[in-house]
Amino acid sequence: MRPGIEWRAARAEADSAQFAADLQAALTRTPKAISPKYFYDEIGSRLFEQICELPEYYPTRTELALLQGHAADMASVMGTQIQLVEYGAGALLKVRLLLQAMRREQVQFVPVDISGPHLLAACDALAGDFPGLAVQPLVADFTRPHTLPPCPAGAHRVGFFPGSSIGNFTPTEADAFLRLAAEELAGGGLLIGIDLVKDHGVLHAAYNDAAGVTAAFNLNVLARARRELGAEYPADGFEHLAFYNPAYRRIEMHLRATRPLTLQVGGERFDFQEGETLHTEHSHKYTVSGFQAMAARAGFEPGPVWTDPNTWFALLWLKAPAR
Ligand code: AVJ
Repeated sequence: MRPGIEWRAARAEADSAQFAADLQAALTRTPKAISPKYFYDEIGSRLFEQICELPEYYPTRTELALLQGHAADMASVMGTQIQLVEYGAGALLKVRLLLQAMRREQVQFVPVDISGPHLLAACDALAGDFPGLAVQPLVADFTRPHTLPPCPAGAHRVGFFPGSSIGNFTPTEADAFLRLAAEELAGGGLLIGIDLVKDHGVLHAAYNDAAGVTAAFNLNVLARARRELGAEYPADGFEHLAFYNPAYRRIEMHLRATRPLTLQVGGERFDFQEGETLHTEHSHKYTVSGFQAMAARAGFEPGPVWTDPNTWFALLWLKAPAR
């Protein structure tokens, strides 16, 4: 038996207990709201990969094209002899484009992700495709205090946070993350992907795809609660709801009760009125200058920006001054 296995089982149990506690808290507050991090169990992670392939979901392919077209420039601002930390690593597809533009013997790659089994499988695949690359996965919630492996001697740390995942954070949470990152990455910097403010119809379609994959992804939070925590609720009791809220410049996703119903979890009952929602995600959209200003307040200096011809998405280099 591999030594990692016992540790991984213990980790999964802790995650379920945390999920149960967070779900109960989510259902107790008004309005009901839960962290989007619970989308990403094994099934949810796969659904998210399908979302990335949808015709309506432009962020992934737009960002991939930016990485494809400019990886050499991005690698060059990151420098040589680096510890490359990817926040919320997922399937590790995007980082390959960066790694291809780097001398791999000068890189230690540290992907950080909350979904342990998924991360470890992705690391195996990456290590197979990049022999000689040092990979040190860290299963952790990077929004909470965590300890990165020490930076190798003579190297500096750089961060990679693609996918506009920072859009999930409220501005306050984004500010907190950026402050933590500016400290953790001092002497290096952060390459971050952000989804830009744009035509509301384009935004709406991206979260209301015709194939219903986003709906399945959203509904998976409760399906996961059923599988993992024995939660009970009527099979057709909830529907997917996603809309752009211009006042907050964000897409909101909710699960809406189709009729009055009761959701049971952990021996407790939670009532929903017809139309009442469980808020599952917000996805904030930024302007480049607005995001740079927020990053500057958090301790970064703005650097090069890469964006597509539609200016739908941007990758920003933020320099983290040494402290
Ligand atoms: C992974 C947070 C960037 O907000 O677009 C995709 C997640 N939610 N479709 C996003 C998501 C619904 C995605 N992020």
